[in-house]
Amino acid sequence: MAEEIIQNFGSKEAAYSNIILKIKALIGNEKDPIANLANVSAALKEAFNFLWVGFYFVKENELVLGPFQGPIACTRIQKGHGVCGKSWEDSKLIIVENIDEFSGHIACSSASKSEIVVPLIQDSKVIAVIDVDSNEIATFDQVDAHYLNQLCEWLVTIM
Ligand code: SME
Repeated sequence: MAEEIIQNFGSKEAAYSNIILKIKALIGNEKDPIANLANVSAALKEAFNFLWVGFYFVKENELVLGPFQGPIACTRIQKGHGVCGKSWEDSKLIIVENIDEFSGHIACSSASKSEIVVPLIQDSKVIAVIDVDSNEIATFDQVDAHYLNQLCEWLVTIM
């Protein structure tokens, strides 16, 4: 469980710092975005035992599924739809403590209970979002927001 992983590092902050360092070392000079985001998805999922971690790319005014780890997910999401489409539309990070309370939430997996979506912004435009799902209520807080945002700010520099 995520709690055990966090306990191993002493805090969620330390766990994120550690995995972000590992991700940067793992990516090194690799420039291929699919390869890199595939490994980012795997690294985060493994580190925290999240239900689903993955990316959607903005392509021709839709979000299209990119590299991910976890259960099968919906392939396309319209602007403003679901948590991902809303994060894209508003260029804002969104934390959903309970997906049942988010109007318009798109349920790709019935096991998903809470979620965080962070936009990847390049030259003031959202080019992708990272979506992280948990099978527990209220998994995500400002610590996840801070570190996932920091990771995304770095990822856009290598994409
Ligand atoms: N729940 C998301 C859809 C993507 S899946 O969870 C992987 C949403 O509401 O946008």
